[in-house]
Amino acid sequence: MKTELPLDQIIVGDCLKALRKIPDASIDACFADPPFNLNKRYGKHDDDMVREEYLAWCEQWILELVRVTKPTGSIFLHNIPKWLTYYSAILNRTAHFRHWIAWDSMSTPLGKTLMPAHYGILFYSKSPKGFKFHEIRAPHKRCRLCHGFLKDYGGKKDMMHAFGQLVSDAWTDIHRIKHNKRRDEHPCQLPIHLLERVILMSTDPGDVVLDPFLGTGTTAIAAKQMGRHYIGIELDENYARIAREKLAFTSETKFKGHFASVYLGKVQTIREVDAKKVFPAQLTKQQKRDKKAKPAPAASVGELELELSARRKDKAGR
Ligand SMILES: C[S@@+](CC[C@H](N)C(=O)[O-])C[C@H]1O[C@@H](n2cnc3c(N)ncnc32)[C@H](O)[C@@H]1O
Repeated sequence: MKTELPLDQIIVGDCLKALRKIPDASIDACFADPPFNLNKRYGKHDDDMVREEYLAWCEQWILELVRVTKPTGSIFLHNIPKWLTYYSAILNRTAHFRHWIAWDSMSTPLGKTLMPAHYGILFYSKSPKGFKFHEIRAPHKRCRLCHGFLKDYGGKKDMMHAFGQLVSDAWTDIHRIKHNKRRDEHPCQLPIHLLERVILMSTDPGDVVLDPFLGTGTTAIAAKQMGRHYIGIELDENYARIAREKLAFTSETKFKGHFASVYLGKVQTIREVDAKKVFPAQLTKQQKRDKKAKPAPAASVGELELELSARRKDKAGR
């Protein structure tokens, strides 16, 4: 008998039990943000296990995530570098390393050792080839005062993309949720834009994203905003309730007809294919020279009227 996927549902309970009910090769992307075993105060989970116990537990759910992922799918694991070194050893046996994404979430220095400035997100694909991956772009970084580019593009500014640069494996443009008024009653809630970036990069609209440690629903909200299905698992019914409440008010986010991660009215991540359609291409130096040399033929009155009426319609539709 074929098992139905619990699409767009939050399962309250232990992730290992719930994962065992998910069929093999049925999920497009898994994202896991487990407890870091740092003695944080969760509602139900004991976040202070003996090291070996913690790692043995992690191995079980990591292998389950690989099992449920489709051959075209990906697995993302978020944690502090210390634990990711062990996770990598587990995943290297059964999946394929793509990237270690360093997310600099703007933490405060703690002293004693090197300042922990980044969290890691391990990105593995289930298969060595044929996995889904979409190039994504983020806005160019600019100086707050003069609004000039922060990066020196080596005299090639004219050839730069009109919107922003292709995203690398070092993410420094997404902040942790700093203000208490923007966060839920949860000790480590992730920003929606982090998950939207992961989802835009690794899945298509209509795909299924699974998070075995849903917390207060970040992955599910990001999936819904990006037009994907979600499956969330969370041990604590209070966190699950908060997630459901937020999801009830969540709808798709599009920029000029394309799924995009938008923050404070500005696009934070967009797929390359969509960026090409939405942002007019930047002209190269040569193209600019050619344009100056050859003035465009004068438009007829009829053409101008058509153009004006199209612009008016465009404005009214916005
Ligand atoms: C680091 S938090 C995830 C936060 C989430 N990414 C967010 O943005 O809200 C880990 C979550 O895993 C949950 N958890 C702990 N043990 C679990 C288990 N065995 N099965 C399912 N969830 C569990 C905790 O209650 C906690 O909410």
